[in-house]
Amino acid sequence: MDVIGSDEGFRRAVPHQEGILETAPSVQYHSCPGTRARSNNITSLDRKRTAIILNDSLRGIGRVTFRAMSTSSGRIHLLGVGNLGRLFAHELAIQHNPPPITLLFHRQDLLDEWGKAGKKIEITAAGVVSSSSNYDVELVQPGQDGFIENLIVATKTLNTVKAFSSIKHRLTLNSSVLFTQNGMGTIEEVTSSSGLPMRPHYLQSITSHGVYSLGPFRSVHAGFANIAIGRAVLPGQPSPRGQLACQYLIDKIVSSPGLAAKEVTPKELVRLQLEKLVVNAMINPLTVIFDCKNGELFNRRPIFHLMGLLLAEASQVIQSLPELGADPEAASRFSVEKLETIVLDVAEKTAKNTSSMLQDVRAGRPTEIDYINGYIVKKGKEQGIECKTNEKLIQLVKEGEVVGVQDVKSEFEPEGRLPAIFSSSV
Ligand SMILES: NC(=O)c1ccc[n+]([C@@H]2O[C@H](COP(=O)([O-])OP(=O)(O)OC[C@H]3O[C@@H](n4cnc5c(N)ncnc54)[C@H](OP(=O)(O)O)[C@@H]3O)[C@@H](O)[C@H]2O)c1
Repeated sequence: MDVIGSDEGFRRAVPHQEGILETAPSVQYHSCPGTRARSNNITSLDRKRTAIILNDSLRGIGRVTFRAMSTSSGRIHLLGVGNLGRLFAHELAIQHNPPPITLLFHRQDLLDEWGKAGKKIEITAAGVVSSSSNYDVELVQPGQDGFIENLIVATKTLNTVKAFSSIKHRLTLNSSVLFTQNGMGTIEEVTSSSGLPMRPHYLQSITSHGVYSLGPFRSVHAGFANIAIGRAVLPGQPSPRGQLACQYLIDKIVSSPGLAAKEVTPKELVRLQLEKLVVNAMINPLTVIFDCKNGELFNRRPIFHLMGLLLAEASQVIQSLPELGADPEAASRFSVEKLETIVLDVAEKTAKNTSSMLQDVRAGRPTEIDYINGYIVKKGKEQGIECKTNEKLIQLVKEGEVVGVQDVKSEFEPEGRLPAIFSSSV
């Protein structure tokens, strides 16, 4: 399911300035091999000189902390080697100057499956099969150590806390962690449950590509779209910690042509996440309860009107979010009309698709609805906004209920507050 193409606000990655730079009083010097390669071949001698100049020029301004991470390996670990994880790993592995990559396995039998798959990841795109095998693999086990500098977490939302817990002791405040999940709330959960005294730098991506599985370590990149990546802002924090931290991981992802990723500002990242949340909160669960493809939803009037009720709640909740408080664009960007346009556009572009939530339900897997509509309901509660329609929708999805179009009124408003249009069967 996909595409919320709003390129507006995307910006070019901040040109990486070698050597620094958080403003005084604390200055950090990060040495990242990949970034070094991209920045005019600055040598380690240049680096030392730059550091000395910086140190000298900042003397007297305040306390200056200088830390050279000379042990940086540029290695990227990947946790969650499912469809999206395979795509990220493969595209990183086939780039011109690939980083060392370690696939983290959470089950012993994945080692056997890896062997049987020829120790390679295979991605089919537009009928062309491409494979990559330059990986190290590691079975995640209790008590295992080894610093993880860059981590991509590509598990489903439901498994993210557990997956993260299994390796969190290997992260430090210098680690960069990218979360790729759909939905919202995972980073908050990970932060509150991790108990880490100093948290790593967090990135988040919004992926509009579509990838499905052909079997262990084999996937089809069916919908080629794009990725927005940026530094995550945590609730209660005005901005991400460390403006230039994570740049190595961002650069590696942005420089993988097959990922079509662009870096966005933290503010734009939140907006894009919320837009995608709303698209997913409409199309995914509605395709489940009406048991249909994306394109079959909104040409039926009761469903269209039901979406109006769901959107009204989502729009009100989003506009009241503290993290958007100072955003002058919030009211227009998250109006019901604007959100409706985006949802209809995505439904049309993905008309023939079966949503990921419907696929999960059909396969008997748990859905990610608690991180989609559930997030809207949770944030609504925090703001004192009732989201009865979203709550009912969650309940129906969890009960595995298939609803007839003519039953929308009785299911969602049995007291009869909805107009007759909701009883229509067309
Ligand atoms: N696929 C797409 O096209 C797409 C597009 C945009 C966004 N997304 C989002 O990306 C996320 C991942 O989706 P996906 O389609 O890649 O799902 P997926 O194919 O199910 O991959 C998730 C992987 O995580 C593994 N996993 C489960 N528990 C784990 C643990 N404790 N530690 C490490 N790994 C664990 C799973 O292994 P098991 O085999 O043991 O379950 C599976 O290999 C979801 O939030 C999804 O909404 C997906």
